[in-house]
Amino acid sequence: MRFDILTLFPKVIEAYINESIIKRAINNKLLEINIINIRDYTLLKNGQVDDTPYGGGAGMVLMCEPVVRAIEAVKDEESLVYLLTPQGKIFSDKLANDIVKKTKHLILVCGHYEGFDERILNFVDGEISIGDYVLTGGELPAMVVVDALARFIPGVIKEDSFMNDSFKNNLLDYPMYTKPRDFRGYLVPDILLSGDHAKIEAYREEEKIRVTKEKRPDLLK
Ligand code: ADE
Repeated sequence: MRFDILTLFPKVIEAYINESIIKRAINNKLLEINIINIRDYTLLKNGQVDDTPYGGGAGMVLMCEPVVRAIEAVKDEESLVYLLTPQGKIFSDKLANDIVKKTKHLILVCGHYEGFDERILNFVDGEISIGDYVLTGGELPAMVVVDALARFIPGVIKEDSFMNDSFKNNLLDYPMYTKPRDFRGYLVPDILLSGDHAKIEAYREEEKIRVTKEKRPDLLK
C-alpha cells in the first residue's frame, strides 16, 4: 500500500517512519510512504502557504492553491484523499479496515494553523479526526492513521497477533502476562501455566468478554 503524506513539517513524519515496525514494512516493500512538502507547491514568493481569514479572526488559514496542487501532483483515479482535521469522521479500527479494503493509495493532508480553506473540501474524499481534541497539526493524526492501517496489510505484523487484537468483534483483547510468574505477590493465573491449550483458549475468550464489560461496556451495546 502506498501513502502520500502532505505536510508542512516533513521531518516530523520522517522521524516516525524511520523506526520500528513501519520501517521494517517499508524495507520489506509492504508499505511505501512518500512525504510531500506542501510548501513546494505554492506559487507565491517566500514559500507562502497561508493567509489571514476573510471576515477577520485569529490565526492563519492554509490556502487552497498549494494544498490542491500538492494533491493533484500525487493523485490518480485509485487514490483516496483525506484531510486530518478535528471536524472529521472519528477514526476507528473499522474505518482503518474499510480504507485498506477500498484503496491501495491513500493521500493524507496534514493541516496547521487555524485550519484549511473550506473550499479544499471540494478536492478530497473526506476528513478524518483521531478524537475530540484539537492538536497543533495533522502530523500526529496522519501517523496514527498510517500505523493503524499498516496493521491490516498482510505481512506487516504476525497473523496470529492480528487475530486477537482489541476491537475484533467489538471485544477488547484478553490480558497478557510474561515472566516472572510472581511479581511482588501478583501472580500469573494458574490456567496459563497448565499447558492445556483448549482450556487456555476458552479462558481467554471469557476474559475478552469480562475485560470489555469492565473497561469498555459501550462496545457491547
Ligand atoms: N488536527 C488537529 N486536531 C486534530 C484531530 N483531533 N484529529 C485529526 N486532525 C487534527
